[in-house]
Amino acid sequence: MTTNYDPIAEQYQRSKQQPWRTHIEAFSLMEMIGDPTGLSVLDMACGEGFYTRMIRQKGAAVVTGVDLSDGMINLARKQEVEYQLGIDYLVSDARNLNSAEKYDLVVAAYLLNYSQTRSELQEMCDSIARCLKPRGRFVTINSNPGLEFPTAPSYRKYGFETSAMLPWQTGTPITWTFHLEDGPFEIENYYLDIALHEEVLTAAGFREVRLHPPKLSSAGKAAHDHDFWNTFLNHPPVALIECLK
Ligand SMILES: C[S@@+](CC[C@H](N)C(=O)[O-])C[C@H]1O[C@@H](n2cnc3c(N)ncnc32)[C@H](O)[C@@H]1O
Repeated sequence: MTTNYDPIAEQYQRSKQQPWRTHIEAFSLMEMIGDPTGLSVLDMACGEGFYTRMIRQKGAAVVTGVDLSDGMINLARKQEVEYQLGIDYLVSDARNLNSAEKYDLVVAAYLLNYSQTRSELQEMCDSIARCLKPRGRFVTINSNPGLEFPTAPSYRKYGFETSAMLPWQTGTPITWTFHLEDGPFEIENYYLDIALHEEVLTAAGFREVRLHPPKLSSAGKAAHDHDFWNTFLNHPPVALIECLK
């Protein structure tokens, strides 16, 4: 199990090809982001730049990606050499990023669920708020803080499984096992409940904090029938949060 992405950067990148990533994760996150045309955007915990590139390609004027992992940022920079999108990538801990630039929008796909405690979550949310312009927006997707992972169903048919131990309390690890053609790999993140997210985001200066379940795209409905998506949509392992500074 790891929260260090250096040794699994390339495998994580390939896990983005699983259909749920496209038809639920990317569809829901990009819909919540809306039209980024002309905006300055910071992608926190950008990984190898999956959403960083997508946001830039959809018209954002300035896009910066930040991640703790050298391995992930190396992959992101290699793709920047290939695609020449004008994205800056830097290695930094999201909790103490001191950006001179202030952004219209901060996006974070799977960052908040790396906090194990209220104080770590507060550091992340304070840092995000510092990077935003007044009235800027924050959009994030994470392990669903409203799902009891110890009793969650199997997601094996989507290409991954989750497991978590009891007691189900702040900081309990959630293990995600992704099954790729050449074998599985694991990542670990942590449970923090919905109320804690709301309290911490509010304390960081955010308002209109809203939690949303993920949605399925029409292409996803066409690709697989209702029975296939049922488990995921009835017990979503991921959830989105949006709020305003
Ligand atoms: C599940 S990956 C998601 C990557 C990317 N957002 C995506 O959706 O493809 C989580 C990322 O969070 C990064 N991360 C974890 N803790 C972090 C922190 N404190 N600061 C910055 N990045 C962090 C990891 O290095 C990893 O690349």
